[in-house]
Amino acid sequence: MEIRALRSSDDRSAFHSGDEALDRFFRQFAGQNQFRHYLGVTYVAVEGQQILGFATVAPRHIDVDSLPESARRKLPRYPIPVLGLGRLAVDLTARSKGVGVQLLRFVLTLASKMASETGCAGVVVDAKPAARRFYEKFGFRTFEPLEGQSEAHPCPLPMYLSMREIRASTEFPP
Ligand SMILES: CC(C)(COP(=O)(O)OP(=O)(O)OC[C@H]1O[C@@H](n2cnc3c(N)ncnc32)[C@H](O)[C@@H]1OP(=O)(O)O)[C@@H](O)C(=O)NCCC(=O)NCCS
Repeated sequence: MEIRALRSSDDRSAFHSGDEALDRFFRQFAGQNQFRHYLGVTYVAVEGQQILGFATVAPRHIDVDSLPESARRKLPRYPIPVLGLGRLAVDLTARSKGVGVQLLRFVLTLASKMASETGCAGVVVDAKPAARRFYEKFGFRTFEPLEGQSEAHPCPLPMYLSMREIRASTEFPP
């Protein structure tokens, strides 16, 4: 399995996560957002021609005061740069084989590179409530955003993992 950026030639029509909104986004909007509007990048987990899963990311800013107390300490009081994981989904035929975890690890590695190259204080995910425990296993915690949420992010449970915590894991070196 390989994880790489979506290509315009990738056939997205066969992808089914079981979540209609995520599938519609992947089929109709992921390509134009990335190739025409440069709004974010979708990374795909592929095996041969088959797309097993995808993760869509874009840089964001969040208000420090909305973060959990422990993550807020000593940070300046202006909006801070983070990497947003807007959508993550795995095809129904590829579930429970570690694809979701590998995509999430890939996103944390991207955030760690971003921290070195342009600045990134952590990762924010728009989690589905049913996936809360999936993210908690990585250390993500829920928080209440004060701004920056929109109807374009339909997954309603914002969760946060700080770069300090990401870097504390030997998997994500600076
Ligand atoms: C959540 C999702 C991405 C997980 O992908 P996956 O490839 O099936 O997950 P993995 O095989 O990598 O799972 C790894 C671990 O997470 C656990 N896990 C998977 N889905 C979970 C969920 N919804 N809640 C809690 N734990 C979950 C697995 O049991 C496994 O734990 P283990 O290693 O202790 O056995 C996938 O179920 C999915 O696409 N769901 C629908 C869309 C969605 O909810 N997306 C996320 C929020 S936008």
